Amino acid sequence: MSEPRQILVTSALPYANGSIHLGHMLEYIQTDMWVRFQKLRGNQCIYVCADDAHGSAIMLRAEKEGITPEQLIANVQAEHSGDFADFLVDFDNFHSTHSEENRELSSLIYTRLRDAGHIATRSVTQYFDPEKGMFLADRFIKGTCPKCAAEDQYGDNCEKCGATYAPTELKNPKSAISGATPVLRDSQHFFFKLPDFQAMLQQWTRSGTLQDAVANKLAEWLDSGLQEWDISRDAPYFGFEIPGEPGKYFYVWLDAPIGYMASFKNLCARRPELDFDAFWKEDSSAELYHFIGKDIVNFHALFWPAMLEGAGFRKPTAVNVHGYLTVNGAKMSKSRGTFIKARTYLDHLQPEYLRYYYAAKLGRGVDDLDLNLEDFVQKVNSDLVGKVVNIASRCAGFIHKGNDGVMVAGDAAPELTEAFLAAAPSIAEAYESRDFARAMREIMALADRANAWIADKAPWSLAKQEGKQDEVQAICAQGINLFRQLVIFLKPVLPVLAADAEAFLNVAPLTWNDHQSRLENHSLNAFKALMSRIEPAKVEAMVAASKEDLLAAEAQAPAGNGELAKDPLSAEIEFDTFAAVDLRVALIVKAEAVPGADKLLQLTLDIGDERRNVFSGIKSAYPDPSKLEGRLTMMVANLKPRKMRFGVSEGMVMAAGPGGEEIYLLSPDSGAKPGQRIK
Ligand code: 2FM
Ligand code: ZN
Repeated sequence: MSEPRQILVTSALPYANGSIHLGHMLEYIQTDMWVRFQKLRGNQCIYVCADDAHGSAIMLRAEKEGITPEQLIANVQAEHSGDFADFLVDFDNFHSTHSEENRELSSLIYTRLRDAGHIATRSVTQYFDPEKGMFLADRFIKGTCPKCAAEDQYGDNCEKCGATYAPTELKNPKSAISGATPVLRDSQHFFFKLPDFQAMLQQWTRSGTLQDAVANKLAEWLDSGLQEWDISRDAPYFGFEIPGEPGKYFYVWLDAPIGYMASFKNLCARRPELDFDAFWKEDSSAELYHFIGKDIVNFHALFWPAMLEGAGFRKPTAVNVHGYLTVNGAKMSKSRGTFIKARTYLDHLQPEYLRYYYAAKLGRGVDDLDLNLEDFVQKVNSDLVGKVVNIASRCAGFIHKGNDGVMVAGDAAPELTEAFLAAAPSIAEAYESRDFARAMREIMALADRANAWIADKAPWSLAKQEGKQDEVQAICAQGINLFRQLVIFLKPVLPVLAADAEAFLNVAPLTWNDHQSRLENHSLNAFKALMSRIEPAKVEAMVAASKEDLLAAEAQAPAGNGELAKDPLSAEIEFDTFAAVDLRVALIVKAEAVPGADKLLQLTLDIGDERRNVFSGIKSAYPDPSKLEGRLTMMVANLKPRKMRFGVSEGMVMAAGPGGEEIYLLSPDSGAKPGQRIK
């Protein structure tokens, strides 16, 4: 028996200014299932999280609500904790980044970085709201687009024509907070010298810490050169003041990941067996995993390991990245009622339905996961109610009626017993590698075999025949033993079903290794229905209630406050924005590798009246680039030119696929001509 592993696990810290929705829940459920699996296996696995409580968005939201930021984050923390608990997400600790532990650790990390020469200071010129007395982040400035003259556009991009620009280019700029005309003002900023860690990151990102698609994406950033990272904000700001720099605060993203450490430190104070340093020292043998969404990879796989390295702490064992949630094949939409809050779901449906559905669809990649509401009902009813619970409900009655609830000894189906035992290592391996979908498929295949065997033996017919009572008891005892094994395999996903099954089976909490034993001459407790079918009407009611949530939110938050949380899931675009993208048919005239770049190809594209130079990260799929020459593809022709280390990229070609060898350049049908617009 190998030694139990010591494992620390985190999920991304949710912002303390909004509700948890089913998109967030995908990550917490994914992480929780993995943690529960580790615990079931006997490993020491600690799962910590916290609310991400700092930043100007939270400060302004509190102000608008007429409460202090501390009150706001306390209210939100209570709401979040309730949502997580009711979804059976079992954190060992759910803390806050606005905590003493986090203040101390942020100061410690910063001063270590500063003393090692990894902090630079320089003056930055930015818009300042003279009425409000604060510097304005781009999203707090509005004005007229310098390109198309559309009014009321944000400080960094135009929703009308899609142009991106610096806030200083905006015509007639106004503060989105006070309406005042902003003025330019200089201020000293603090920068983390990320380029100091280029070599370490090149190596670390390729050392098995990341999924391939993620490492490939990062390689593009690493290849085009890392920038120093601005880690300071001026007062007023809700956060921690930088040690020795009055009026300067840590940017929220500096202390957010340190919140992982702080939450763990807070837990250590309550759990004496946990040693903070043993988990965080440079040469720690403990494992550290962060589960995150693909939108925050740069913070976790570039800035964070560099900060840890620079401050003398250990780096993560792995950063596990998942894709976004879509509902019914599209981005979650408030108007369609598919932007579903955790609480709205819980008001209508059991948490384990969703936990199972997510498990059944979650692989180890970064692909988006679709919650198709019809498929959800069908799959949960068919697999959990129709297959798993069905085994117990078919067998329990006969044991109670015919043998006082006592399971007889003996193995009535040795080949099935053998198959269930043989499947366990593969199911465990699937869980370990986060391939929950494979684990569920293998478990359901076992459930199918068990059901088919019981149907074939038909104890309900035998029970009506004279002298068949022993056979009935042997079949049903076997059925219950198989059910018990399925419950063990499903326990990380369905902890309540497992607890109810343990009560019925009259056994202590099951662990993974218990699948190797069986119940014989064992008394069962009374059988109660373990899970009911999802009624489609409940799903419809949940969607209707989500539409109402939208109306309520709109009433509370008129335009002008919507800039606060940037949520990619809700970022639908107007038709005009889409129409502003200039898509063209392009002929690849030349395609060649770029010396010194692992991932990039340099393409010369003919778009009719002109030629464009485009760098594209598709080399992994096209090792012999000359084969692309002469081929038609599609390009975005009005993308702002981007200066890269190798030259200027003047547009983007379009490709599909997860990355690596699986990148598929798009092509029009034959007959299309270079330069033709795609409509
Ligand atoms: O993107 C977000 O929702 C952030 N609040 C995640 C922070 S994760 C960690 F770094 F704190
Ligand atoms: Zn515009």
